[in-house]
Formats: sequence, structure tokens, C-alpha cells
Amino acid sequence: MENLRTRYGNWALITGASSGIGEEFARVFAMQGINLVLVARRKERLNKIAEELIINHKIEVIVSSADLSKENFLDSILRDINGKEITILINNAGIGKPGEFKDTDINYDSDMIKLNCLAPVVLTEHFLKTMIKKRKGAIIFLGSVVAYQPTPVMASYAATKAFNLSFGNALWYELKKYGIDVLTVNPGNTATEFNRMVLNDKSILTRTARQVVNSSLKSLGKKPNVVDGFFNKLITAFSKFGSVRTIVTVTGLIMNNLYKKNYPSK
Ligand SMILES: NC(=O)c1ccc[n+]([C@@H]2O[C@H](COP(=O)([O-])OP(=O)(O)OC[C@H]3O[C@@H](n4cnc5c(N)ncnc54)[C@H](OP(=O)(O)O)[C@@H]3O)[C@@H](O)[C@H]2O)c1
Repeated sequence: MENLRTRYGNWALITGASSGIGEEFARVFAMQGINLVLVARRKERLNKIAEELIINHKIEVIVSSADLSKENFLDSILRDINGKEITILINNAGIGKPGEFKDTDINYDSDMIKLNCLAPVVLTEHFLKTMIKKRKGAIIFLGSVVAYQPTPVMASYAATKAFNLSFGNALWYELKKYGIDVLTVNPGNTATEFNRMVLNDKSILTRTARQVVNSSLKSLGKKPNVVDGFFNKLITAFSKFGSVRTIVTVTGLIMNNLYKKNYPSK
């Protein structure tokens, strides 16, 4: 793998860097000497990660505590980064929870759509300008295996991930002429706080956040999207065959089973 710093630049901004996949991106970039802007709400956790990475890797780290589901989050990030030229953007922060849509909390769903969909669009539109000027850059979006088919019991979350995948794929084409690599990475069941909260379903097929990051960096610059892990590749291949009716019905049966197993009281 070519050194990421040489290829894409000195500064990366990672959303959702306080845990899980975002924290792992931060660790891997730090090992390559890339300076970091860590964005999430939990400032103390970001400060702790920043402190460790500064000591171990002699890089610069800026902590930017922001709620990306709120208006004007970009202004507060821009104040914190004070003109640093970001040429690597990891649109990773995301939330979601299972349940039938009729039982949804509409305020939660509304914030989820702002965080999962609107925030990546706003950040990408802003930081793209520097990347186009410098004729280099990397943008990663977090999709999911649920982006590949409508997914009952996670209907609105899956739709946000389909948005990420579609948007990322289109930008891959639009931006390659400016020397900017775009990738959407689609994890399946990955051991993080999100996963413990959503399905609490740890099995031998569960992947680690580091594996997701490694899959991403192996595919960046080579293709528009990647599904992390062999088993996950198999299940997304299934969604290419059959009618929507068959695919949604089978997905619905699987999701209902998982939901009932993990939330017996619901
Ligand atoms: N784990 C899986 O099985 C899985 C599978 C497919 C896709 N994904 C995707 O992977 C991405 C990362 O999730 P993860 O699994 O690493 O989960 P995670 O450990 O829960 O991390 C989520 C990150 O998003 C941040 N975040 C949440 N709400 C935020 C808000 N309003 N504003 C700013 N930051 C916010 C959290 O930080 P704070 O709480 O400190 O704000 C945290 O750093 C998500 O987009 C998720 O959809 C995960």
C-alpha cells in the first residue's frame, strides 16, 4: 500500500472518531504520520484518544466536539481547524436502531437522517474545494450491507445507508478526474458500540473495526465501493438476484428472527 500521506496529504478529518470504526481509522492514519481532526460529541473520549496518538506518533491532533445532527455544526468545526487543509475526509459517524417503523421515534429518525445523510453531504461539499484545488484527496463514506436491499426492521436506517452508497458511487465517478479517490465501505456485523446497541449479535462472523479499515484502505483508489468480509460479500451478492418482493421477504424473515432473538420482550 502506497503511503497514504504521500498520496493524499497531511490532514485527515474523521467523523465519529470517539469509538468503533472511526477510532480505528484514526489509529491507522496516525501510524502513517497523518495529522488528524477528530470529530464526535464526546469530547473527553476524543481528548484521551488524541493525547495517546500525539505521544505515540508525534502527529498533530485537533479535537472538534460537534453534534453533526444539529444545524451549523460546520461553523464550529471550521473554527476548531483554523484553516488546516483537509484532503482526507472520513464520513463515518452514524446511528441507527432496530424496530418496526410504526414504533419509531420520529425525532430520533429525523436526527439519524441529518447525521447519516445530510452531514456527509455538507462536509464533502465544503472540503472538496481544497481537494479540487490541490488535485488530490480521499473521501470515504460508511454504507452497510443493509444498503444493498430494503431492510425491514431497520427500514429508515437501511435507507440512509443506501443513500451513502449511491452518493458515494456517483461521486467516485465525478471526482476521479480531479485526482480524488472516493470509496464507500459497506460493513456487516462489526464489533463496535453501535453493533452492541443495535442487534447485540456477536458470532464468529463478526468483524473487527480494524478489519473494516483495512478493507477500506486496500480498496481506496481501486474501486468505488467494497463490502467488508467474505460472508458479507456473499449476503450482498444475494440481493442482486430475484425480485424485490422475494429479496425483501427473505430479508424481513431474517431480520424479524434476529430482532426477536435479541429483544425477546419486544
Ligand atoms: N458496527 C456495525 O456493525 C456497522 C455495520 C454497518 C455499518 N456501520 C456504520 O459504521 C459507522 C460507524 O459506526 P460504528 O460501528 O463504529 O459505531 P460506534 O462505535 O457507535 O461509533 C459511532 C460514532 O459516531 C459518533 N456519533 C454518533 N452520533 C453523533 C452525532 N450526533 N454527532 C457527531 N458524532 C456522532 C459517535 O460519537 P459520539 O457518541 O461521541 O458523538 C461515535 O464516534 C456508522 O456510520 C454505521 O452506520 C456499522
